[in-house]
Amino acid sequence: MNEKKLIEIEEKYGAHNYKPLDIVIKKGKGVWVWDINGKKYMDFLAAYSALNQGHCHPRLLNAAVKQMNKVTLTSRAFRNDQLPLLYLELHKLTGFDKILPMNSGAEAVETAIKAIRKWAFVKKGIPENKAEVVAFTNNFHGRTITIISFSTDQQYRKGFGPFTSGFKIAEYNNLNSLKKAINRNTAAVLMEPVQGEAGVIIPDKDYLKSVREICSKQKILMILDEIQSGFGRTGKLFAYQHSGIKPDGIIIGKALAGGFYPVSAFLTSKEVMDVFNPGDHGSTFGGNPLAAALAREALKIIKEEKLPENAAKLGKYALARLKEIKNSNIKEVRGIGLWLAIELKKGGTVARKYCEKLKDQGLLCKEAHEYIIRFAPPLIITKKELDWALKKIELCFASA
Ligand SMILES: Cc1ncc(COP(=O)(O)O)c(C=O)c1O
Repeated sequence: MNEKKLIEIEEKYGAHNYKPLDIVIKKGKGVWVWDINGKKYMDFLAAYSALNQGHCHPRLLNAAVKQMNKVTLTSRAFRNDQLPLLYLELHKLTGFDKILPMNSGAEAVETAIKAIRKWAFVKKGIPENKAEVVAFTNNFHGRTITIISFSTDQQYRKGFGPFTSGFKIAEYNNLNSLKKAINRNTAAVLMEPVQGEAGVIIPDKDYLKSVREICSKQKILMILDEIQSGFGRTGKLFAYQHSGIKPDGIIIGKALAGGFYPVSAFLTSKEVMDVFNPGDHGSTFGGNPLAAALAREALKIIKEEKLPENAAKLGKYALARLKEIKNSNIKEVRGIGLWLAIELKKGGTVARKYCEKLKDQGLLCKEAHEYIIRFAPPLIITKKELDWALKKIELCFASA
């Protein structure tokens, strides 16, 4: 079937909850994808950081096939031989003592919120139904009703009420605002260490450290959503490691299974996780042996192929090159690791136009809101491949 027909079918039968660029991908390998006409593109978005290991990594393919030949799903009614090993490896990698596996990122966020609330009641002594979680302006943690209940983006909320209560909003990167949002019923602070969907918003250098101090003083859990920022994207294994702190819990997903499968998890201390009793929470697919086998291999690849190190080195280089672009439409260029953004001036050409132009040139990226272009290539990218992409971006802005 040709491209036009496939797009027509998708538009006719699919919900219009996305507005994708009109490229129909048929194949992917490393940083490259091919459309159904055989045209080659570089993927400079990496499924919002789910493909840090690149498309169809051969080691992941191997691990998937190997495990699929054994057993794929047991449900948690029984035990399987992969999940304990994933627990052990995640514990060794992160230092967190307890892990609860789920599937999508949003589910892991929901899991964290449930743990926070029960911990607040059982361990902190906050009266039942009174626990509050502080979230932040321009946050993005997923799309469930509870999660959009604390979104500050009106589009994500409009028409979807009634919402879940128990959330306060503080301004991101503003300590006074956080202090004001806290009261004796505050159980936790839930934040992205770098805000991805908001357009790669990097807080001040000491911000996370100060948040940590505020939380520690008042027995408030500091829970970080590392779903997009984790697994090397920012040049460290986790973004919080730039601040030299340790949060009370992290939420991970996306690159945890390198794009082969949705695998997510909430990691925290024994004190917090032990509030869950059998039957309190669960998921048919969470922690299944295929997911666990894939995650185990995905973690090994991140470590052995030194993806955080590559992101740190090449990210610095890419940021410097992007900053040299002279174009009156550009308001700011920013980045951390291989997570980069060009913010355009409001009222000028919108980001989508640049993304479409770059697509025509063979480079795939996506706008974040109207005026921000976000770049997040697979972290296996080589200097040569990065140079190829940067040239495309430079040319695109030179002719704008
Ligand atoms: C920081 C963050 N949290 C949560 C999510 C939701 O993850 P999922 O789409 O897998 O539910 C995302 C997705 O982009 C994210 O970036």
